[in-house]
Amino acid sequence: MMSRSSQWYDGTDRNAYIHRAWMRRGVPSDAFDGRPHIAIANTASDLTPCNMHLNEVAEQVKHGIWEAGGVPHNLPVVSLGETNVRPTAMLWRNMAAMAAEELLRANPIDGVVLLGGCDKTIPALLMAAASVDLPAVVVPGGPMLTGTFRGAPLGCGTDVWRLSEEVRAGTLTEGDFLRSESSMIRSKGHCNTMGTASTMGLLAEVLGMTLPGLAGTPAPDSRLLEGAHATGRLIVDMIAADRQPSAVMTRGSFLNAIVALAALGGSTNAVVHLLAIAGRLGVELTQDDFDRTGAGVPLLVDLQPAGRHLMDDLHRAGGLHAVLHQVRDLLDPEAITVTGRPLVDHLEDVTIHDPEVIRTREHPLQEDAGIAVLYGDLAPGGAVIKPAAASPHLLKHRGPAVVFDSIEDLHARLDDPGLDVTADSVLILRGCGPKGYPGMPEVSNLPLPPKLLAQGVRDMVRICDGRMSGTAYGTVVLHVTPEAAAGGPLAKVRTGDMIVLDVPNRHLDVELPPGELAAREPSEAMTQALARPPRGWQRLYVETVQQANTGADLDFLVGGSGAEVARESH
Ligand code: FES
Ligand code: MG
Repeated sequence: MMSRSSQWYDGTDRNAYIHRAWMRRGVPSDAFDGRPHIAIANTASDLTPCNMHLNEVAEQVKHGIWEAGGVPHNLPVVSLGETNVRPTAMLWRNMAAMAAEELLRANPIDGVVLLGGCDKTIPALLMAAASVDLPAVVVPGGPMLTGTFRGAPLGCGTDVWRLSEEVRAGTLTEGDFLRSESSMIRSKGHCNTMGTASTMGLLAEVLGMTLPGLAGTPAPDSRLLEGAHATGRLIVDMIAADRQPSAVMTRGSFLNAIVALAALGGSTNAVVHLLAIAGRLGVELTQDDFDRTGAGVPLLVDLQPAGRHLMDDLHRAGGLHAVLHQVRDLLDPEAITVTGRPLVDHLEDVTIHDPEVIRTREHPLQEDAGIAVLYGDLAPGGAVIKPAAASPHLLKHRGPAVVFDSIEDLHARLDDPGLDVTADSVLILRGCGPKGYPGMPEVSNLPLPPKLLAQGVRDMVRICDGRMSGTAYGTVVLHVTPEAAAGGPLAKVRTGDMIVLDVPNRHLDVELPPGELAAREPSEAMTQALARPPRGWQRLYVETVQQANTGADLDFLVGGSGAEVARESH
């Protein structure tokens, strides 16, 4: 069968001449004899510090591709660094996915190796690959090594939140806080907690989309380069077998990912990303699947933010496969990987080397680590909470709302000693959904009022239509749908209204006489503060973005268009 790239390179006409001639910069003539051409979709960028090392990884992938008889091409794609990009990297995830999708389709390639690391990069690449459906495989860039401060390990993200709260509580000096900064990031790689980057790198493997055993390998570890080389060889085989993302990422694979998400104690952001990837493939997946399939799955991994250790420890303790081995009976035995073999087939001969880091099924950290999806007056379309990261005594709670109309309103009033708030109050921040902010930022774990911190309060019920950093923790209700800016009832709540959170029964309600909430107008101050971008990507985004409960993709990007291109360029 004629390869896809041959449609460009094959023949004696003017167009084939043009396609070949400009590519002859050191490549041998037989590169155009029908052998597979493979893009390396590379999110390396100096402004995405977690992905800085991916050029080195790309070089190894290239070696493997050449060796197996393919022709590699480095393809820089949109890169998103979580720590730098404003107002939030999430605003650009769909743009990165759209741009990568179009470039993969437009170019003469037969398959693609996806290089990502920092939070949004692997989800965006998987969304793109799903919509094009050419053979694709991920090399996760891997986590950084553990840094220490005064002899104690520092968890990226998680310890920034913790230390900054200590400064606000007056139990850590600003000088010591700043001294910890140079210890936080010890090496190349992404955040080493079980945040979104770690979660999505590991779930890429559970979805079947990496070389088995590669995800979670620390970025500086030689085995990452070895795995990159092997992935280069593998993509050539995958193209020969025409093994497409749609054959690998089935509903069974997504349900496997939900089981793994719970067992790993992974980030709540994975809910939005997995829904978006499934949406590109036409795989039926709902927010409720997370609650149903994750229910009863035990937490087996003792990593920050829910626990103590870091990604390097997980790798040393046996890694993802040792975790999956424990929940093997819950995994779909038919879901295949990029190797063509089922995921579960790769789980033989695995051992837990450190039972402090990876627990057995008999001795879990928690019995039930799934994501809970709440419904009620405040969230007709659902809201998400990660009970494993919450305080058990707050999972059933009734308290008066203290409402903030924007992030600016929060910053202006939170530290005011006169703020009428107690440990029983429920902090609400609205206008932070996909449309409202825009981009659904990670602001839902609102900081606590300093006067309560000084009293020793370390957690309160918080409710928001935004997201929470995967490295954060607390009793935080997230992804409230519909968001306030899309007409959700969250826009009508007032300070003093009695809020009832009931996680065991999956309820999130406000105690008001029937009809009262519906009869109210949305908050004027919130409406004033909403984003109204006049042009460009942000305008397109605000006009077309869907709600969190279906993955916050743009409405016209859901689904796929395959790899066909109708017309020649000349
Ligand atoms: Fe890139 Fe955390 S900032 S993974
Ligand atoms: Mg993050």
